Amino acid sequence: MKIVVIQGPNLNMLGIREKNIYGPMKLEDIHSQMKAFADQNKTEIEFFQSNLEGEIVDRIQECIGDADGIIINPAAYTHTSIAIRDAIAAVQIPTLEVHLSNIYQREEFRHKSLIAPVCAGQISGMGPFSYHLAMVGMTQMLSEVAA
Ligand code: DQA
Repeated sequence: MKIVVIQGPNLNMLGIREKNIYGPMKLEDIHSQMKAFADQNKTEIEFFQSNLEGEIVDRIQECIGDADGIIINPAAYTHTSIAIRDAIAAVQIPTLEVHLSNIYQREEFRHKSLIAPVCAGQISGMGPFSYHLAMVGMTQMLSEVAA
């Protein structure tokens, strides 16, 4: 079983950017925790971060025949990217959308996700723990598929 984790623009700046919103944790530390959970569950995991929309579309397409599940924080592209939405719809791989912050509590332009309708679920507002919850949810979903 393999999960691919895709991180959108500016998430490489975690630990530096707007700490009052996103907290002090760095992306690599979030990934270490996810890797530990994946190891415990004998799941393969791969991480990808890009600030470029087309690279994210490419990585989603490359999941065909490679990944059983996708966990994605599309970051600002959540609110703008029809291309990322279409890529997720195209590959037909169970996908969970993750946000550190509660996007519904913030500026109005963040309230709409173009990505959520093509995802199995969305986790928003739990800080780095959002990623852990996505791991738990994805592991459960994939074990149900395998059973
Ligand atoms: C974010 C929320 C987005 O609105 C924002 O553009 C981000 C991060 C989050 O994880 O809370 O870059 O996806």
